[in-house]
Amino acid sequence: MKGAVADVTQAIGRTPIVKLNHVVEDIESEIYVKVEYMNPAGSMKDRVGLNIIRDAEARGMLGPGGTIIEATSGNTGAGLAMVAATRGYKCIFVMPDKMSQEKIDALRAYGSKVVVCPTAVEPSDPRSYYSTARRLVEETPGAFYANQYHNPANPEAHYLSTAPEIWEQTEGDFDAFVGGMGTGGTLSGCGRYFKERNPDIQIVGVDPIGSLYYEYVKTGRLTKAFSYYVEGIGEDFLPSTMNLDILDEVVQVDDKECFSMTRALVRREGIFCGGSCGAAVMGAIKYARELKEPKKILVLLPDNAQKYLSKIFNDDWMRSNGFLEEDDETGTVAHILKRHPHKLITLDRLTSVRAAINTLKQNGISQIPVLDEAKRHVGIVSEIDLLNFLVEHEGDLDHPIGDLVSSDYATVTPHTRTTLLKTIFNDAKVCLVVEHDRLLGLLTKIDLIDYLASVTTPAP
Ligand SMILES: Cc1ncc(COP(=O)(O)O)c(C=O)c1O
Repeated sequence: MKGAVADVTQAIGRTPIVKLNHVVEDIESEIYVKVEYMNPAGSMKDRVGLNIIRDAEARGMLGPGGTIIEATSGNTGAGLAMVAATRGYKCIFVMPDKMSQEKIDALRAYGSKVVVCPTAVEPSDPRSYYSTARRLVEETPGAFYANQYHNPANPEAHYLSTAPEIWEQTEGDFDAFVGGMGTGGTLSGCGRYFKERNPDIQIVGVDPIGSLYYEYVKTGRLTKAFSYYVEGIGEDFLPSTMNLDILDEVVQVDDKECFSMTRALVRREGIFCGGSCGAAVMGAIKYARELKEPKKILVLLPDNAQKYLSKIFNDDWMRSNGFLEEDDETGTVAHILKRHPHKLITLDRLTSVRAAINTLKQNGISQIPVLDEAKRHVGIVSEIDLLNFLVEHEGDLDHPIGDLVSSDYATVTPHTRTTLLKTIFNDAKVCLVVEHDRLLGLLTKIDLIDYLASVTTPAP
């Protein structure tokens, strides 16, 4: 028929770019969004699903009767399942249990088998969703592991499809490209394409507090990741599909900011988008606030609100997790620092072990942030690091502490909610408060306890 495409995979792409008008009122820069939820299976991962399957077929790794297996937060699964449906492949998807029921149901609707695994285990744990996917690949005859975290066909999808489409639509008329940091497919693929055409275009990654990317980019340290609610972005390991060298800036956002912005995008802009879209726009706004002059910023919005109706758009779920404004009685990290001001003690990384021990003793503290020559933190040194070093190195007290720093901390911003801090302290021993690459403070559990005790009104 005239005007028809041969199958649904040919309807992937040609998504619109829309100017934001209301949620950016206080921003001088112009912010535009690439609305990827208009793809047939509902996200930008449709492009990835198609490219991964095409690539596997071309390499002879997937053929008639084959089964596609993938560890997915839902969208890659939907993209793969849609393409698989048109070509007669079976699919098995392994998902972490924090993912929304809507995403699981959508994959089952395509006829795929879904295996749900615990989120709160290390990636190397046999129960993790990465390990389970690998085991299923070994056990299933004719299996093809899509492996979006290490498959170059993932970033290539964006290099071949998303980025050229954006370039054609905009004629390259933008200064910065902002996207969430998940597998890195979007940022690495689009980033490469844009930089090849105009190296001045800034590539900005948005990372949720709890993920390890931000701290790794800023300090080179792989800190322990801890759980957060926004889906699809942030990682607890480094996927090889993420090219961090292409990034000019990384911005941190927390769950509450992501979800408030997601709701605002739907209610005030009419853009029916999902949680990582709120994260990306929030990240773009934070980036824009730091610019010396207004710029044109393009933000990629990965998926749609439909997938999160039972969570981000459900007041009970939002309230029970402390994400609604009305629940914000206990304030932010900035409030804690203000109410309990304490001098931030730091050490230069060339300081000797001897001097570090003295500083800990004199100040009655157990750990201390270590700074480099540019006054940026490179990690912390705690009593146990000093003890381990002295046991192993027979009392070498003149050694510089820069070699001893550990990654046993989480990074937060002054805007992080105290409700989130409570969750972070389930996993982290101390939190470093960082804004604009500057270390502002160090918080321990007792600081939070002190603060909460002082803001709680005593019973009459
Ligand atoms: C909803 C959502 N947002 C963002 C991303 C991150 O994109 P990428 O994997 O290309 O970094 C994903 C990835 O799965 C996603 O599902």
